[in-house]
Amino acid sequence: MPRAAKIQIAASILSADFSRLGEQVKEALEAGVRWVHVDVMDGHFVPNLSMGPQVARSLRPVADRFGSRLHVHLMIEEPDRYLADFVRAGANSVSVHVETCPHLHRTIQEIRALGAGSGVALNPATPLSTLDEILPELDFVLVMTVEPGFGGQEFIPSSLNKIDRLRRMLTERRLDRVLIAVDGGIGAQTAGAVTRAGATVLVAGSAIFNDRATVAENLRQLRSAIERSPGRTRKGK
Ligand code: DX5
Ligand code: ZN
Repeated sequence: MPRAAKIQIAASILSADFSRLGEQVKEALEAGVRWVHVDVMDGHFVPNLSMGPQVARSLRPVADRFGSRLHVHLMIEEPDRYLADFVRAGANSVSVHVETCPHLHRTIQEIRALGAGSGVALNPATPLSTLDEILPELDFVLVMTVEPGFGGQEFIPSSLNKIDRLRRMLTERRLDRVLIAVDGGIGAQTAGAVTRAGATVLVAGSAIFNDRATVAENLRQLRSAIERSPGRTRKGK
């Protein structure tokens, strides 16, 4: 089956200690993370405010030292206005929310023209059918498994069925090269289930950056939860 067997963990810096952001990201990179996930919020599309291109620019050299990608998750209205800024700041890939893009095809073409990977994020209540026409143009789909806006929320269980249906949709359309990323409430309790359902990139914030354990220990626990879970491919699906 032509899907990437390897599961990637993407570290969402939203839950990191911002007073020492570079160090925290370095800890994650030293522990093997190769996707750094930058959450951008505008106080309109989501009720929270977070960071801008300068954060991506500051993290670019740190990521480069480890050959890591920087992914920017835009939770903002009119994302087209900022695509070039984020790619110039060093984003390898950008995802926009389908709910914010009336001209999604144009937005995706713009991301590609800027030389970055393209993703579309879906809120929990947004149906997969909104992806029908755009799917072949994408590098990944970001399935929100919580309502976007805050770290540390609880995983929405019905997301598993959505991930499973997206995996089937990709397989039926011979688009398994399109990655399925999941974002929100991912930790040792949920990592196995989303992997089994067909996710290949697991975005985690509060499960990686917290006061309970070191970043390395948290990542170890996350990986062991993924490894303990029997993979979808091994079940022959
Ligand atoms: C939520 C963000 C997530 C967030 C996930 O709107 O898109 O990337 O950091 O946080 P956790 O992993 O704590 O649910
Ligand atoms: Zn995110």
